[in-house]
Amino acid sequence: MAEIHGTSSRWPARLIYAAVLLVTAGAAVGITYLLMNIQDRQHEALQHFVPLENVSEDSVDPKVWRNNFPRQYDGYIKTADMLRAHHAGSDAIDKLEQNPLLKKLYAGYAFSIDYREKRGHAWMLEDQEKTERVKQKKQPGACLHCHASVMPTYRAKGGGASWEQIKKGFEEVCSMDWNDAHKLVSHPVSCVDCHEPKNAQLRVTRPAFILGMQSLATSDDKVPHLPSIERWRKGNRTKPYDPNADATRQELRTLVCAQCHVEYYFQPKTSLLIYPWHKGLKIEQMEAYYDEIGFTDWTHKDSGSPLLKAQHPEFETWSQGIHARSGVSCADCHMPYQREGAVKISDHHVRSPLLNVARACQTCHRYDESEIKGRVAVIQGRTAKSIERAEHAVADLIDALKVAKDKKAPEARIKAAQALHRKAQWRLDFVIAENSMGFHAAQESARILGEAADFARQGQISLLKGD
Ligand code: HEC
Ligand code: HEC
Ligand code: HEC
Ligand code: HEC
Ligand code: HEC
Repeated sequence: MAEIHGTSSRWPARLIYAAVLLVTAGAAVGITYLLMNIQDRQHEALQHFVPLENVSEDSVDPKVWRNNFPRQYDGYIKTADMLRAHHAGSDAIDKLEQNPLLKKLYAGYAFSIDYREKRGHAWMLEDQEKTERVKQKKQPGACLHCHASVMPTYRAKGGGASWEQIKKGFEEVCSMDWNDAHKLVSHPVSCVDCHEPKNAQLRVTRPAFILGMQSLATSDDKVPHLPSIERWRKGNRTKPYDPNADATRQELRTLVCAQCHVEYYFQPKTSLLIYPWHKGLKIEQMEAYYDEIGFTDWTHKDSGSPLLKAQHPEFETWSQGIHARSGVSCADCHMPYQREGAVKISDHHVRSPLLNVARACQTCHRYDESEIKGRVAVIQGRTAKSIERAEHAVADLIDALKVAKDKKAPEARIKAAQALHRKAQWRLDFVIAENSMGFHAAQESARILGEAADFARQGQISLLKGD
């Protein structure tokens, strides 16, 4: 450029300027065309359906949607199949029989009676009916929020379809007895829970999730993997964060799953279902929230410690992993695209991606299948080893606390060790209850397990010390 400006005539510069302008304009048209093309392809499947049957907000029966979307329906009903991968599976095997140490870790709590491997979505309502945790213990209607297509029930109880009425219905159903509330639902998670009936657009429906996201948005936890929250925070905040209005389509491909695959607790007395994201999504932030409100799931039978039970924190764990950081959603791996004749659809047979590596992983990772599976096996194998270590550490602390209590050790010393038991058990259980055996965030899971073992051993040492 310096040379051109140095010449006496301005013409060559103007010519180059015009040429650059033309090329830029051409490139812009090209890119726009490409983007439109991509968008077309993304909406390809939607454009291909001929509405045959009218579906409404009350169409919880997936069969009603079947005529419109036979391919997605076929995938969805396959979630009833029983499959098994190495660390995951779809048969309801007994976790307590597989690992007897769990009975000791959960002593005094319903999970020591019955705790099974989860199965496909088609089973969620039936498995809740069958568990001894429901048969032997009194449970609230709040359990149905993530195990049934429950929105019509919330609207009926709340007297309408406005957000306030839905919230009211949700609160009411949460506090009902499980047996009574169960009479009001009939299907497991269904199309209408993730899709707008009028155009099949992706959306979230669950009140506890929407309220959880509102608390997360107002926290100061950094969430680079949820850009719509970062954007909302910079705005005027006149309206609460709303995933359906604010989130991008790529975010919704995760958020529809985060409606249920998350840590939760029931508010004492009201049984209101709450997602504990008020300080953020990280394990310490949820712990700080629970400590602040003085929440305890149960008191351990042998150690007397006030403990927390972690529940399937897939969304929270994914949030700390490299895939979330890279913008890869739950659906990218668990509902990958597949070609069916002329159309590209999302595989609605939600399951372990290891049963489907070609479409779930190889679109991004160009290694052969055995190499990809090998990489996952390394992560899961290491996590399983660290879990074993941490389990033994926590079990030893339980024994030490039992002895200390029998010997009537000073109250302050026991209390301090019980507080360390709470920290250790919460961390250990967080990784056990998470369903990817470390894969969703390998380093974070390793860090958490290291801390679990450390807190448990600190507890043991504190009991050995004299006054
Ligand atoms: C309404 C709540 C809900 C939503 C929404 C939901 N899940 Fe689930 N999911 C469950 C429950 C409950 C189970 C366990 C069912 C059982 O064990 O009977 C489950 C099981 C699974 C399993 C285990 C399947 C198997 O074969 O063992 C996978 C994988 C899974 N979900 C992934 C997802 C993904 C990905 C999404 C989002 C596209 C999602 N889920 C959305 C509640 C939900
Ligand atoms: C926040 C959503 C949510 C709520 C509320 C919820 N579940 Fe689940 N439940 C899930 C998900 C997700 C799975 C599958 C993942 C897993 O098993 O870890 C599951 C799995 C299960 C399973 C199969 C595996 C097992 O644990 O034996 C049973 C049974 C179950 N839940 C019972 C209940 C009961 C009883 C309640 C009420 C006390 C309840 N659920 C409340 C989301 C939820
Ligand atoms: C990069 C791919 C990837 C992403 C993104 C991802 N997962 Fe997974 N997920 C996996 C792999 C791999 C496993 C381990 C499967 C196995 O061991 O067979 C897994 C396991 C699971 C399981 C247990 C599956 C079973 O059959 O037991 C559930 C439930 C699950 N993921 C839910 C989610 C949710 C919810 C999200 C989003 C918040 C998510 N996953 C994001 C790859 C992914
Ligand atoms: C747990 C949430 C969930 C449930 C339940 C669910 N879907 Fe989907 N569905 C998705 C996701 C995620 C996508 C991908 C959407 C996107 O990328 O825009 C999708 C995409 C679609 C699409 C757009 C075309 C495609 O395949 O990508 C249609 C149509 C559809 N689903 C129909 C159905 C029908 C019919 C049912 C019930 C039989 C159903 N879905 C149940 C999450 C769900
Ligand atoms: C949409 C693209 C995409 C999909 C689908 C995807 N990944 Fe990845 N994966 C990435 C990106 C991006 C990274 C980060 C590394 C990088 O930037 O190259 C990554 C990293 C990884 C890593 C390294 C993890 C670490 O902690 O460093 C493993 C292992 C991995 N992926 C396995 C899988 C498996 C297994 C699947 C299928 C279940 C899968 N990925 C699906 C994009 C993807």
